[in-house]
Amino acid sequence: MLLLKNAQVWSGKGDVRADVLVDGGKIVALGTSLETSYSDVEAIDLSGKWLFPGVIDSQVHFREPGLIHKEDIATGSKAALLGGVTTFLEMPNTTPPTTSIAALGEKLAIAQKTSYVNYGFFIGATADNLHELKEARHQEGCCGIKIFLGSSTGDLLLYDEFVLREIFLQTDLPISIHSEDEERLRERVHLRDQGRHPEDHLVWRDEEVALRSTKMIVELARRCQRKIHMLHISSKSEIEFLDWHKDIVTVEVTPQHLTLAAPECYNDLGSLAQMNPPIRSAEHREALWQGVKKEVVDVIGSDHAPHTLEEKSKPYPASPSGMPGVQTLLPVMLHHLDQGRLSVPHLVSLLCERPAQIFSLANKGYIRPGYDADITIVDPCAEYVITHASMASKTGWTPYDGLKVKGGVWGVIVGGEVAMMDGKVVKAYEDHKHDVVSKISRMAMSTV
Ligand code: DOR
Repeated sequence: MLLLKNAQVWSGKGDVRADVLVDGGKIVALGTSLETSYSDVEAIDLSGKWLFPGVIDSQVHFREPGLIHKEDIATGSKAALLGGVTTFLEMPNTTPPTTSIAALGEKLAIAQKTSYVNYGFFIGATADNLHELKEARHQEGCCGIKIFLGSSTGDLLLYDEFVLREIFLQTDLPISIHSEDEERLRERVHLRDQGRHPEDHLVWRDEEVALRSTKMIVELARRCQRKIHMLHISSKSEIEFLDWHKDIVTVEVTPQHLTLAAPECYNDLGSLAQMNPPIRSAEHREALWQGVKKEVVDVIGSDHAPHTLEEKSKPYPASPSGMPGVQTLLPVMLHHLDQGRLSVPHLVSLLCERPAQIFSLANKGYIRPGYDADITIVDPCAEYVITHASMASKTGWTPYDGLKVKGGVWGVIVGGEVAMMDGKVVKAYEDHKHDVVSKISRMAMSTV
């Protein structure tokens, strides 16, 4: 049995000073003087530390199979662990894309052998895979359906309203949406082709590209009475629109849209700051923060989208879109916490509780007896600088290189085992992690 002693436990609405007892991969009890009631207890003193429910990153791209020169499940999940993430939900725009039960099975088999943390995979929607999307509800480890309404990395794309309607009516897995209007993107593609600087990406994929698509899909979801989850919302007008539709829509924003702003990010980082949907002006960034404050935003996901430096250094528009972020998701949000932008319970809701609820993840999202013993240990006083060199992703770079942060990940418990401590993966865990990590399972009923 493992006893986490003297930490401040943040779960639910507030914090308590309590010890947490872990056994058989589960949280067994919360309380004081627990060691006197149990024998064979190994205690770790965590005075001054915070315990968060294991962080869930509900949008990552780990590139395996097919694009493993950028990342693979082993390196992506190791970066996740070092960043305090205990469960990732991975996107289907790999090569081949994950659009069938067979392809899901392949990813699950790789993750079972190589992942450092718990995992779930999305199945991608196409114009002709409705049968697979329906079947996927029976596939353990499948966390939901992903729809790309506008083209991004890879060739998954679906914006035919008739097909979308059938998917909304005939499936019941959670649906995550990449919302950009493909027709407007095509009409204005000359802006990309004539573009010579990554900031031109923002001109091509403008606010109207995002808003038009978001209005279309939310109105369709309403007609079908279907809940949907909107990924990486980037603009003021979308936040204002989505605020009116919270009964059927949940919303994600990314740390990069909350931290970076145009034009500085393009001047400072060039194409490293290029992503879909793009990083916009400070006015949009502030509107996203207002969305967080008003709880229009439910979830912060990293949209970890690794590309090599060599690929990124091609001149725009040949440079690919996306940036790594799974390892910096929690550190960057702890930085914003230190800057007073949100409270600790709100942060725990955005990173742990709401992702577990939206994707109906069984026994995750809280530190409670009976729940999985996935716990992220935070040192609120740690001060350090994020650097390229500290990144475990194959890409070896971060858009936050040089950012001074207060508040860091001190340790991680996965499935009741000490997996990371003091910035290092624990050797014993590394050797038998395949016995510890597991695919997510979903509760029968959505609790959104
Ligand atoms: O910029 C992006 N890159 N946005 C996405 O939605 C996909 C991602 C990728 O996979 O590279």
